[in-house]
Amino acid sequence: MTISLASEKPFARGGNRLCYVHPDDSSLCIKVRRPDFTLADCRRKKGFPKNLKPLSSFDDNLEESRVMAALEARYGELVFRHVSRCFGFVDTDMGRGLVSELIRDDNGAISQTLKKVIWDEALTDDCRQAVAALGRFWQANLIPSRHLLLHNIVVQRNRQNRIYRLVVIDGLGSPGLIPMHFFPAAVQRKKVEKKVATMHGRIEMLLGQRHEAEFPGYHGLLLHDGSSSQ
Ligand SMILES: Nc1ncnc2c1ncn2[C@@H]1O[C@H](COP(=O)(O)OP(=O)(O)O)[C@@H](O)[C@H]1O
Ligand SMILES: [Mg+2]
Repeated sequence: MTISLASEKPFARGGNRLCYVHPDDSSLCIKVRRPDFTLADCRRKKGFPKNLKPLSSFDDNLEESRVMAALEARYGELVFRHVSRCFGFVDTDMGRGLVSELIRDDNGAISQTLKKVIWDEALTDDCRQAVAALGRFWQANLIPSRHLLLHNIVVQRNRQNRIYRLVVIDGLGSPGLIPMHFFPAAVQRKKVEKKVATMHGRIEMLLGQRHEAEFPGYHGLLLHDGSSSQ
């Protein structure tokens, strides 16, 4: 059955995808390709020589589903402490959609990105501890990822509004052609250290931008919070 999303309002828009609450299950989200930024547009933007690769290699949903299956096979349940679960593909009226666990706060609202939380509140003690915990987890388990960008990490809160967990929702998997676990452990550690350092660097940069009038860019802002009052 084709799920209809075109008449719904997405809750977020990333660089490549639109994210919708699953119409039949509010604990899930469906990510589809942005119709205004097709795979062909994406390939064109890359330029030579990357634009020689097949269209399917630019498909983030395909890549994410592969990466998530590999992470689950390698780490089992453990990885889902800080990574959202992925449940495979569905047909929608906006093309093939990837279904994932929708990260919500305990009050039901869709969790905000780390970028938005730090922009709004600076780095509170809660947030600092959660960031440190994520960094430790990444380093202890040598989780392969691209740069840990603040709009690809969401901040989950309890009923008292305390932060209890950061969840990485995008940018997972080995960045290069060679899977990370093929490298010697010392090299893996260096690579992961760099990713964690990037996250801290991005946080410092954002803290330095907080005096500006406008939120920097549109990545990391929700279009609605997915709760009943939307
Ligand atoms: N599983 C999720 N739970 C909560 N919010 C999410 C989830 N997946 C994505 N989002 C929100 O949607 C935005 C865009 O999603 P993302 O997967 O990063 O798309 P893109 O691949 O286009 O960058 C994120 O910045 C985040 O705010
Ligand atoms: Mg993203």
